[in-house]
Amino acid sequence: MHRKARVDDIRLIHREINLLAAEGKVLPRSLNDLYTHVRDLHVWIDDGLKTIVGWCALHVMWEDLAEIRSLVVAKAHRRRGIGRGLVEACFAEARELGLSRVFALTYETEFFRRVGFRIVDKQVLPQKIWSDCLNCTKFPDCDETAMLIDLDP
Ligand SMILES: CC(C)(COP(=O)(O)OP(=O)(O)OC[C@H]1O[C@@H](n2cnc3c(N)ncnc32)[C@H](O)[C@@H]1OP(=O)(O)O)[C@@H](O)C(=O)NCCC(=O)NCCS
Repeated sequence: MHRKARVDDIRLIHREINLLAAEGKVLPRSLNDLYTHVRDLHVWIDDGLKTIVGWCALHVMWEDLAEIRSLVVAKAHRRRGIGRGLVEACFAEARELGLSRVFALTYETEFFRRVGFRIVDKQVLPQKIWSDCLNCTKFPDCDETAMLIDLDP
C-alpha cells in the first residue's frame, strides 16, 4: 500500500538511506534535509508486516521538471513491483502538479528503463547543476547516469 510520508517515518528512512549510502547506492541525506522535504516523500507499507518497506521522493526542480530521489526498496522486498509502484505514485503526483518531465540520476539504469525512462545527456538537465550538484560530494566527477521520462498529460 502506498501513502505519502509522515514526519514519524523519517527516522527509519534516514537510518536506512544512510546505510545504503555507505554502500554507494544512494546519496546520504541529513535528518534536517528529510524533515524539510517530508512532503516530497512517498512510502510503501507492507500489508502483512504493517511496516515501511520502500520510499521515494519527487522533488520539483523547475516549471516542467521534477527529480526522483532517494528511491529505496528494502532488500528482502525487491523484485515484487514495489519500486515500480513508488515511481508510478511519483508520476501521478507529477501529473497532478502539472509537470511534464521527470528525471533520475542513477546506477540502476535497467530498473529505470523498465519503468519508462531513457538515458539522456546530463547537459539536458541544467537546473540540476544550478541547485544540488554543486553541493554534492560527487561533483564534478558524477558517475551516475541521467535518465528522463516525458509524462503523458
Ligand atoms: C532499484 C530498486 C528501487 C528497484 O526496486 P524493486 O522493487 O526491486 O523494483 P520492481 O520490482 O518494481 O522492478 C520493476 C522492473 O525493474 C526490473 N528490475 C528491478 N531491479 C532491477 C535490477 N537491479 N536490474 C535489472 N532489472 C531490475 C524488474 O525485474 C521489473 O521488471 P518488469 O516489470 O519488466 O518485470 C531497488 O533495487 C533498490 O532499492 N536498490 C538500491 C537503491 C537504489 O539503487 N536506488 C536507486 C536510486 S536512484
